[in-house]
Amino acid sequence: MQYSPIRRFNPLAKAAEDKGMRVYKLNIGQPDIVTPECFIGAIRNYDQKVIAYQQSQGDANLVQSIIAYTERDYGVSYDEQDIIITMGASEALTMAFSVLLNKGDQVMIPEPFYTNYTTFIALAGGSVAPVPTSPADGYRYADRELLERHLTDATKAIACISPGNPTGNVLTDDDKEVIAAFAEDHDLWIIADEAYREYVFDGRKPSTFAQVEHIRDRLIVVDSVSKRFSACGARIGYAASTNREFMEGMLKIAQGRLCVPTVDQVGAAALFRLPASYYDEVRAEYEERRDAAYEEIMRIPGVVCRKPGGAFYMSMELPVEDAEDFLLYMLTEFNEENETVMFAPASGFYATPGSGRSEIRIAYVLNPADMRRACWLIRTGLERYKAR
Ligand SMILES: Cc1ncc(COP(=O)(O)O)c(C=O)c1O
Repeated sequence: MQYSPIRRFNPLAKAAEDKGMRVYKLNIGQPDIVTPECFIGAIRNYDQKVIAYQQSQGDANLVQSIIAYTERDYGVSYDEQDIIITMGASEALTMAFSVLLNKGDQVMIPEPFYTNYTTFIALAGGSVAPVPTSPADGYRYADRELLERHLTDATKAIACISPGNPTGNVLTDDDKEVIAAFAEDHDLWIIADEAYREYVFDGRKPSTFAQVEHIRDRLIVVDSVSKRFSACGARIGYAASTNREFMEGMLKIAQGRLCVPTVDQVGAAALFRLPASYYDEVRAEYEERRDAAYEEIMRIPGVVCRKPGGAFYMSMELPVEDAEDFLLYMLTEFNEENETVMFAPASGFYATPGSGRSEIRIAYVLNPADMRRACWLIRTGLERYKAR
């Protein structure tokens, strides 16, 4: 395991802030979008005298609100026993890999990938089998020949994050069929991480892997309120699967950890009942931020970056040998009118040693004006870093 490349530079940012600097934080997917009022409203109206344990599977009202949302927006039906509420998507993934993997099993993941998968999978005794993709080809991986090349005897599952973190890559319906056929032919599980499901741009239609009917018994959908509702601190997510045996394993682990915080589930149930128009507004905001950030980033001479189709991240190759060294410079030496910027060096998003050293990930979680300023600081910082 490794320390998170998203969080491990926080002490340096804090030191810069202690010296009076403003640090634009593009390193972490912590949006500044206001959490919908109904979350706190529902908690205020919670009138129980005792904050008791909840069911291990989760609050029945929250489970029902997730079922209704998935049916309403995606035409996908789940039964009550197909859903287990977890402490964020993080716990859903940790539990799912514990159920699926035996010691030595591998999980195929297109790289770069959300770095904490390495930890989730290692905890279950498995390892990541990376499928390399590149910024130049838009991080595409739904390619049968590419997937076949990286299959091993130990491969047990393929994990797909769509919309992607850190790449912003969005799987099309055809892409999903390619992955589904590959999984069926090799008897693999599919883990579909859809934490950013609604945030797709340029007219793309939000979708879920569960709409691919013929693989539903080998599919585990992982989801979360963190990003969708800008409620990262609520720590509520869920795993959904129609595979009974898998869900029995999940419930055993869920019972072992007793339950997810009772009160946060009350707020989360209200979030899933928001009208679909909520997503339209937030999507438009992120699209504006993406456009602002992309325009500024493309002004950097020598940058390689594909406009991301979804989520709120942009990965890119910079004209530097070591992006981590550049970040250290930005946090400890660079100063432009008492401002600097923090981003995530991308090597930690790769499992292949030595990959991604010139790449960074930014999260476009700030308003468009701040995004422009932060990206301009990256460009200016690069000029000064290279001129040293
Ligand atoms: C792709 C992906 N999966 C899972 C998570 C974890 O989310 P949660 O806050 O629900 O644990 C994140 C968080 O950034 C993520 O980007």
